[in-house]
Amino acid sequence: MPFNCIKTETRGRVGLITLDRPKALNAINAELVGELATALDGFESDDGVGAMVLTGSEKAFAAGADIKEMLAKEFVDVVRHDFIQPWECLSRCRKPIVAAVSGYALGGGCEIAMMCDIVLAADTARFGQPEILLGTFPGAGGTQRLPRAVGKAKAMEMVLTGRMMNAEEAERAGLVSRIVPAAELLDEAMKVAAKIAEQSLPSVMMAKESVDRAYQLTLDEGIRFERRLFQSTFATEDRREGMRAFADKRKPDFKNR
Ligand code: CAA
Repeated sequence: MPFNCIKTETRGRVGLITLDRPKALNAINAELVGELATALDGFESDDGVGAMVLTGSEKAFAAGADIKEMLAKEFVDVVRHDFIQPWECLSRCRKPIVAAVSGYALGGGCEIAMMCDIVLAADTARFGQPEILLGTFPGAGGTQRLPRAVGKAKAMEMVLTGRMMNAEEAERAGLVSRIVPAAELLDEAMKVAAKIAEQSLPSVMMAKESVDRAYQLTLDEGIRFERRLFQSTFATEDRREGMRAFADKRKPDFKNR
């Protein structure tokens, strides 16, 4: 299906989505989000895809929600038509998504990176929530996910002053899992996603769900939730195959069953 604001392709078992509005530094408008939702749905329902990569351009992962699209909106417009709600297509995905961030990840751009499961940053990456400079504040999860990722002090400073973090600070703070040279970013993100996509898909999906629940539940409830999901992997052929392959000193042949 042809898209205007994104490009998609499948490489092996990895679905790759590239944000592609270069003239607007990949600012996120309604059309882009609609296309993103369609692409994610496609990869989610494709048995040949085990993980996804979301990336942008060298200059910008995404410079935020489209300010020009938001400019004329009134309070009643955004209450009646919650334009952020469709962005949740990313956080609802059950297959893992690796964000490969080069250049600016600002406002909604930082927020969609945080909706992904793993963030790899190029050494050129800049993360920020500059909405306060526009007379508003983050509206796509930034005030909730950023403090969970980097702690209250840094999150508060970023949200209240609009200060950006470079890649080193973002890695130190725990917002990104690793920094790689910009030229190697996509290859590295594809390798991470391919490694995930080689594993047993039901276990990958349950592992993702279990880690995500750590943000919703008490430790005790979270441990119980994890235990039940862990036990349920003993009902899969893949769990038996994985352990048998280890004992036989060979690579497992997972069937996603
Ligand atoms: N929305 C719409 N257009 C944007 C945009 C955005 N978020 N960010 C950049 N653009 C456009 C610019 O208007 C410009 O278009 P024109 O050529 O037509 O003028 C083009 O992209 C290139 O941008 P710049 O000329 O500004 O490039 P630069 O290299 O000088 O600066 C930048 C880069 C620092 C990222 C700067 O573009 C910038 O500050 N962008 C806005 C960042 C921002 O405030 N993001 C938060 C948006 S609000 C939000 O996201 C709400 C939410 O939580 C959901």
